[in-house]
Amino acid sequence: MSIPRIVVTRVLPPTSQAALEKLSNVEMVQWKEDRNMPRDLLLNSIKGADGLLCMLTDKVDQELFKVAGPKLKVVSTMSVGFDHVDTAELKQRGIKLGYTPDVLTDATADTTVMLLLAAARRLKEHQSCGGWRDLNVTCHNYPTQWREWGPNWLCAFCLMATVSRHIFSQSNFIPGVQFTSKTLGVVGLGRIGEAVAHRLRAFGISRVLYSGRGTKHEAAARLGGALHVPFHGLLAKSDFIVVCCALTEETKGMFNYDAFRRMKSSAVGSGRNRWWMVLGGEIGEGSYVMGAVGIFVNTARGGHVVQDDLARALQENLIAAAGLDVTTPEPLPTDSPLLGFKNCIVVPHIGELSHKARMFVILSNIVDLNISVSFLFCFSAVSSCAIGSATTETRDEMGHMAVANLLAGLKGETLPHAPF
Ligand code: DGY
Repeated sequence: MSIPRIVVTRVLPPTSQAALEKLSNVEMVQWKEDRNMPRDLLLNSIKGADGLLCMLTDKVDQELFKVAGPKLKVVSTMSVGFDHVDTAELKQRGIKLGYTPDVLTDATADTTVMLLLAAARRLKEHQSCGGWRDLNVTCHNYPTQWREWGPNWLCAFCLMATVSRHIFSQSNFIPGVQFTSKTLGVVGLGRIGEAVAHRLRAFGISRVLYSGRGTKHEAAARLGGALHVPFHGLLAKSDFIVVCCALTEETKGMFNYDAFRRMKSSAVGSGRNRWWMVLGGEIGEGSYVMGAVGIFVNTARGGHVVQDDLARALQENLIAAAGLDVTTPEPLPTDSPLLGFKNCIVVPHIGELSHKARMFVILSNIVDLNISVSFLFCFSAVSSCAIGSATTETRDEMGHMAVANLLAGLKGETLPHAPF
């Protein structure tokens, strides 16, 4: 019997890489540079291979399967998401798929909450403007425009902005909003969605709505009675919306202009402040605190969002703020309009990275330090190694799971971690 041939598209985290290198009785082609394996090289290497260990950045499509040929038995992706794999074609060819669920749930949920907090409390603009903004000054020179604390900070402007919401195109004068007694909308109450909801209930969220295929009775009960609602109902009733579902043909582009238009308006007042309505605001159901609602956070996949529509929604002040861990493409081009909004925080798919790296990325984003992403990753790598952080553990765990899936697939065994 010939030795199985495997293709590995990246160097794995340290201990899983060591495990991979110890494998005997396999012929391995591994891309060792710290960037994506070029497509032509991947296609060349996959010819006649028995197994593929890939990343979420590798497209595993019909073309790849065709080039690979009939020997390919297993595709093992080092990710929980597998929208980069053509699963219909994979199933048709009888190839097994392995993935890495669970281990990154907490880290991704933390990132979601971090983005939601940053967006809700308008961290980016407050950091650069010191909580106060002059209409005629662009706040880039952190912290030169900071002023001493004052009791009417933002609130006076908030009222002014409400009166003038049709005059000013951006919602620069609306203060941050807290989570207390607010409604959270979770799109996809899977592992990560549930973990996010648990965290946010500790922050005072009073109601959890969720949408998606089917009712999740057990998860809903664990959350003290989360309600399953249709997508449009979730859009209309939630103060905060987090996207935690898989990217499929069904969910692709689900956040388009129409969806953002259905979300609560950024100029919404509250039940107690009905005068807002008279002044041009709208009353949001379940909202009892004056301020911005209609906040959107996506830590799932960039493909869920029609990005031009999100930019338009922010421009037209349809929603209060957005936080994005994922974009299309990744990395987001530096001229993307999304990067220009003070109320849109974008981080470069750091979902399962360490707390330290995450905070560093977001802080640099907030204060416009212009530090390059590659530097941030170096920093993150160094700090992770130095402190033995959750990043290293999570990533290593993912690496080990991916290797275990690959080996089981090569032996024709059931994969330990398979989505179907
Ligand atoms: C995954 O594994 O799918 C995550 O998006 C990684 O951050």
